[in-house]
Amino acid sequence: MKRIAVLTTGGDAPGMNAAIRAVVRYGIFKKLEVMGVFRGWWGLINEELKLLDHRSVSGIINQGGTILKTARCPEFFEEEGQRRAFATIQKNAIDGLVVIGGNGSFKAAHVFGTKYNVPCIGVPASIDNDINGIDTTIGSDTAINTALGAIDNVRDTATSMERIFVVEVMGRDCGFIALAVALAGGCEEVIIPEKKFDLQAICHDIVHANIRGKVSWIIVVAEGAGSAEDIAKKITETTNLETRPIVLGHVQRGGRPTALSRDLALRLATEAVDCLLRGERDLAVGFCCYKTTVIDFETAIKKKELNVEKFYTLLKQVT
Ligand code: F6P
Repeated sequence: MKRIAVLTTGGDAPGMNAAIRAVVRYGIFKKLEVMGVFRGWWGLINEELKLLDHRSVSGIINQGGTILKTARCPEFFEEEGQRRAFATIQKNAIDGLVVIGGNGSFKAAHVFGTKYNVPCIGVPASIDNDINGIDTTIGSDTAINTALGAIDNVRDTATSMERIFVVEVMGRDCGFIALAVALAGGCEEVIIPEKKFDLQAICHDIVHANIRGKVSWIIVVAEGAGSAEDIAKKITETTNLETRPIVLGHVQRGGRPTALSRDLALRLATEAVDCLLRGERDLAVGFCCYKTTVIDFETAIKKKELNVEKFYTLLKQVT
């Protein structure tokens, strides 16, 4: 193995830069040439890539986003896109790919790597923490802390003005951010895509608690489960209590990566380079029970099973 390439794809996540830096510097340390592909799969299709040296990744460990840029690339799921991407791989003599991204990125890497016999190793980076078989992803801790900071601020005004707030966090298919911030933020209710919710029952609880003197509530909703605006409107209509919606949106994707996100990036990116050097392929590196591990892509791309009931039980026991 002489030359590898690294790309970031899908939604950006804080810590992707730390992962790029580690792939480049560790790769060079291991006597490899490392190419950076721009805008994820799009860059492979359109041959937008360049050789990276030690200094090209200076001063990025603390930056959110990704210096390689990222994109959603539906063309890569088509035959023509894959064919062109493979042509770039051949033309540039790339022996292996490090794919930094989330669930969708790994699905694409699995299909491409298997079909065109290109060794691909996934480094899980997604604020959603939606990779099956591992504990956490690069960027998840940072996003949770960002959302938590916002919820702590909302708590101040919710308590002072005795209002109900519905806070919408990211997570189209996965409710992990919502569950994590609901627990850490001491929120009263959480609504996620993985569990059916009963708004009438929530309104009933709110009214009864209100009679007992509990006047402020924070309800967290993952974007895939409903909109804060709709839910807040229905709560106001049903309970006659003032309820305000807040959508945190893309602020959760940016910002300085936390120590945990950077630490994961370093460990997982170097492990990915080692996997390629060992001749491994079609798998993702990950962190499980405080240890670096590898899982095959087939397992990694399955729907992540969250222990939802455990989260809910904990939340209800302390509300
Ligand atoms: O990266 C994951 C994620 O932030 C999801 O939580 C969210 O649903 C999605 O990306 C939004 O993607 P985009 O910014 O492409 O609309």
